[in-house]
Amino acid sequence: MQAKVVIVGSLNMDLVTRAPRLPRAGETLAGQSFVTVPGGKGANQAVAAARLGASVAMIGCVGDDAYGEQLRSALMVEGIDCEAVTNVANESTGVALIVVDDSSQNAIVIVAGGNGHVTSEVVDGFDALLSRAEVIICQLEVPMATVGYVLKRGHELGKTVILNPAPVSGPLPAEWYAWVDYLIPNESEATALTGLPVDSVATADAAATALLASGVSKVIVTLGEQGALFATRAHSQHFPAPKVKAIDTTAAGDTFVGGFAAALADGKPESEAIRFGQIAAALSVTRSGAQPSIPTLNDVQSYQP
Ligand code: RIB
Repeated sequence: MQAKVVIVGSLNMDLVTRAPRLPRAGETLAGQSFVTVPGGKGANQAVAAARLGASVAMIGCVGDDAYGEQLRSALMVEGIDCEAVTNVANESTGVALIVVDDSSQNAIVIVAGGNGHVTSEVVDGFDALLSRAEVIICQLEVPMATVGYVLKRGHELGKTVILNPAPVSGPLPAEWYAWVDYLIPNESEATALTGLPVDSVATADAAATALLASGVSKVIVTLGEQGALFATRAHSQHFPAPKVKAIDTTAAGDTFVGGFAAALADGKPESEAIRFGQIAAALSVTRSGAQPSIPTLNDVQSYQP
């Protein structure tokens, strides 16, 4: 099956502990549990798009270790095309050290490993996948130069290009904005990109206006339980979040992005795609872990508010 959604991004093994709260600097805390689950923003978005109905291909790199094989298998079980998930010799697979606290917030440290080897040359070797895609998605857990290359190439090919700027610590290269159709930051990422505080619908609207002025076509600022703010140069609209009891927010943003992309690839209008992504993300926070928490199309279709 030809992949309609192609993701260029990271694969991480998530080493997840639950603890009553996040540790302070220099502190040792007793955790309540430990699990190892497949994650990585790129792979999570690929799994979300696949479970939510899209045909998906992943372009990324893993190390030559057991985690790499486990991550590849986790994607293949979902029917994701992994022809472009490349093994890197003498390298470890990316890992994420995650602490989730009793209020469902998390703190994450990532070590790139294989993700650092996703170069423009690697992506270029799979240009046929990009050429056949309808939607191309990038995040920022692979080298910045590669992300810039993919955004530009996707734009040249006339694809719908989505950038989830995560993680990010400052402004993006100015030329990127013209290559992006949908920029999807969360509150802290919108703040990092614009220098504006973002913690409400109104402040998200102000940040979106600044990002639109930089040249991006459309912005969706995800605001957790406050919903999402969608903005174009012509208008902006707030989409309230479905109400759920959150137990773990890990990969909620990834689930939104993957679900939104799957719905767009299915020909849905963007407002419907946003609501679809929001329901998927809301369901994901009711379950633990990254990829294990991502709902299926049936879960979303049978969701009752
Ligand atoms: O967005 C959640 C993801 O961030 C985790 O799965 C972890 O791997 C980090 O990349």
